[in-house]
Parts: sequence; structure tokens; C-alpha cells
Amino acid sequence: MNFRVPHKYHKFLLDLNIPFAKYDSIFIKKLPGQIMTTKNAVVKLLLILSFLPLTIQLHAQTFRSDIFKERRSRLLKSIEDSSIAIFNSAKTATRNGDVDYKYRQNSNFYYLTGFEEPGSAFILLPTDNKKFVMFVRQSNILMESWTGKRAGLNGAIKTYGADTAYGIGLFSKMLTKSLKGKKKIYLDTEDKDLVKLVDSLYKKANENSVKQNINVNDIVNEMRLIKDNFEIDLMRRACEITSDALINAYKNAKPGQYEYEIQAALEYIYTKNGSNYPAFISIVGSGVNSTILHYEENNKIVEDGDMIVMDVGAEYKNYASDITRSIPANGNFSDEQKLIYDIVLKALKETTSFVKPGIGLNELQQYTSRVITDGLLELGLITDKEKNWQTNIWMPHGTSHWVGLDVHDVGDSKYMDKKGRLLEPGMVFTIEPGIYVSKNIFNHLKDAYGFQVSADEIKSFTEKVKDNVAKFANIGIRIEDTILVTKDGCEVLSRNAPKEIDDIEKIMTEKK
Ligand code: GLY
Ligand code: MN
Repeated sequence: MNFRVPHKYHKFLLDLNIPFAKYDSIFIKKLPGQIMTTKNAVVKLLLILSFLPLTIQLHAQTFRSDIFKERRSRLLKSIEDSSIAIFNSAKTATRNGDVDYKYRQNSNFYYLTGFEEPGSAFILLPTDNKKFVMFVRQSNILMESWTGKRAGLNGAIKTYGADTAYGIGLFSKMLTKSLKGKKKIYLDTEDKDLVKLVDSLYKKANENSVKQNINVNDIVNEMRLIKDNFEIDLMRRACEITSDALINAYKNAKPGQYEYEIQAALEYIYTKNGSNYPAFISIVGSGVNSTILHYEENNKIVEDGDMIVMDVGAEYKNYASDITRSIPANGNFSDEQKLIYDIVLKALKETTSFVKPGIGLNELQQYTSRVITDGLLELGLITDKEKNWQTNIWMPHGTSHWVGLDVHDVGDSKYMDKKGRLLEPGMVFTIEPGIYVSKNIFNHLKDAYGFQVSADEIKSFTEKVKDNVAKFANIGIRIEDTILVTKDGCEVLSRNAPKEIDDIEKIMTEKK
């Protein structure tokens, strides 16, 4: 006898984006599709059932629910009494047909719960006895034999520390009750579906009452800005994996191969070390592509004489790393490549040497900018140090961003004064100077700077620098470290990824 569980149906059950969907009542029925013999199904089910308690137990043992509880307590303290905070898990996303992108939990949801399943939600109630209420996919042995284990209601309470848990199908009903009498609703105000749902449930629960929606992300994002030791260890590991991956790329890179072969050398090391996914699409740009800041195609053949910019980062247990290294395809820097490399490396080192609590992000940016500007003047790529627009041509991006659960992590980086956001111990951020000599730059100088510089000035600038641009054409160099601010300075988390010219050449020429 056969019974059938089709791929389509499998996806349908996985598709638990909408927290108020009625998934709790779904049971496998006889449906058309992929055939599974009863014998196979029974063997598979028995195998899964025999491992399930073990895997759940192992996870429960290693899971640090205390860390997530402490974060929720801090959040609860910063929201008002007559309020509720509501969080929705990340949606699953279709890649094509019935294939989904690999699921990744919403970063704030993860930060507060450690819970990584789709189709879930939770609420926080500051004045209730049961302050932390989770809504999750219920256990379903047959479904778990297809799509993997679920924590279920028991796991939500025992492992994740919920005070109470319901099936996700009860979300709307229970939320309506909890909204009664609340004046302030903390939620992601950008999540339009959630806002719409909450608004309509609120009306049901409260006649004539007026509420205020407050963006809970403003509070959580600020919490995420200072990393605790648990997070720092994970980020250190993410950076170690990426550094190993870069060394593997140095050893494997050579003219004649495709950029994606270098990408493969990097990502192989990620996967081998338990990094589920790159924190962002790997950038591997050679030659002309080294001058494209966010080049992602990675499909050109690497040529002798090319520079290769690798801006990459493994994600480890949801934490990002972000490291850029630039190497010569043939293993030896040309004189022109060296000249530019030295400026960029000097900017990185000098800027890093100023990192300590109390220094502002704007100040750091100025240190980088000064070194880059001086270097560009020496190379004849700019004509006037006082004209920022000239430096911006060759380094058109900022120096830093936060790193954490997201590669461009959350947290206010705005300026408290002209120094910019002041650094504190536990912050993790990048320093990433670069110079990109695109020979096509003259085609769009007018578009980019015409609003602040006259056509005559652009013309005269072009005339003065064009020979030097030809000399350095297609050399793009960025060097980026991920840096932790410590009590009295900093720790360069990406220090294991070699960046001195001698070290890079040695590794590349010695190979494996
Ligand atoms: N690593 C990519 C970026 O910082 O934009
Ligand atoms: Mn970056």
C-alpha cells in the first residue's frame, strides 16, 4: 500500500508566515504527489523518532535560555506597565516555484528568544504573572518526519523559558484577550501586516479606547549595539572561520580560473566549520570588478595582473563577520598595486590605532579620510586636498558600520555631537578604507558631482589626473577588519586574516 506526501503540500505546511493561520488543525490527508511506500515510511519514521528525543535533549542542554531571559527582562523594564510588546517571526520566502530560501529567523526575535523556527510569535506582558507567552508550531510527528523537529509547546516552555505557550493558530484569539485595556503597543511598526492585524484585534478588544503604537525596534536595536560575552565569542568564531576561508582563497586563487572558484574556496571553509550561510552575498571581484563596490556576479575569468577584492563573511550561529582582503591574482603585487595597497593599509592601521571607548565614529572617519586623501594627492589622483569631492571619487563609501546579528547591524550611529556616536566597550564595527580606480569614472563625474562643482572645474580636474588614472586603471583595493571595542582599546576580531603584502605573497606563492 502506498501513501503520498507531495512536495507542494510539504511546502504549504512549511509556509507558516501568517501567525494567525490555522495550521494547528491540519493533518496529513491522502494527497496526490510523491510516492512513499508504507515500509519506507515506517522505517524512516522510526529512525526519526529514535533520534528526536536525543537531538531535542542535546539542544536543550546546550541552549543558554538564561541569556535570552536576561535580555527580555531588560526589555520588560524599559516598557511601560499598561502595555504589551508583540513580535512576529521572520516570514519564509519563496525563491522560485515551490522552493524557498533557506529560513533565517528575524534578528530581534532571535535576540530575545533564541528560537529559530518559522510560524511563531511571542508577546511580553510587563504586569502579568505570565510575562512571556510564545505561539509556536505544534508538535506533529508526521510533519516532523518530513520537515524536521519542532520545539512544540513543551519545548517552548521547557527549553525556551516561555511562561505559557499556545499553537500559532491561537495567536489572534489570545492576542485579542491580551490587548484588552492596554494603552501602549510595542511592535515593529514597519511590519505592516502585523500592525494591521493588531489594529483590528485591538478594536475588537477595546471599544472606544485609544492606543499608541511604539516602535519596539528602537529599544531592541539599542540593546543589540552592546554585545555580551556570549555574542562576542560567536563573533570571534565567525571571524576565525572567515579568516581561515580567506587563507584558503589565497592558496587557491590563480589567473585563468573563474571568480566563483575563489568563492567556492571561501564558502567551502564556512560550511566545513558549521557556518550555515554567508552573512551576505560573497563579493569576489577581479580586475575591473575590483572597482565595483558591491559586485556580486562573481563570474569573470581572473586574469594575470588583476587585483581581486574579496569582501566576505561567514555567519556563525546567526552572527555575522565582515572582512575584506585584496590580493594580486598572480601572487605578486605590481608596483602600482603596491602603491595603492600601502595607502589603504595605512589608513586602516592608523584608524584602528585610535579605537577606544569615547572616540566618535565621525572622528574615525576623518582619520581614514586624511590618510586616503594624502595618498591620493601623492599618486596624482587628486589635485586639491581641501576638495572632498575629489577624494570621494576614489573612496565613495563610509568607513564603518556596526556588525552583529546583521552584517550592517542595527543601533543608532547618529551623531551625538560632531564627533559622532561615541564608542563603548562591547560595540563591534568595521573599519574599511578603500581606493577604486575605475577608468570609466570620467563618464559620470558630471552626474555625480555636477551639482556641487562647475563643469569647467571637472574638465580641468580630468585633464590633470587622466594619465595617472590610466596608470592605476582597474585597481580596486579595500581592506576591512571587524573590530570589538574593549575597556581600554580594541580587539581586531579579523586579525587572523593576513593583510601585510609580504604575508599575502608568501601564502600565495607557497600555495598548499
Ligand atoms: N561587506 C559588505 C558591506 O559592508 O557593505
Ligand atoms: Mn563592511
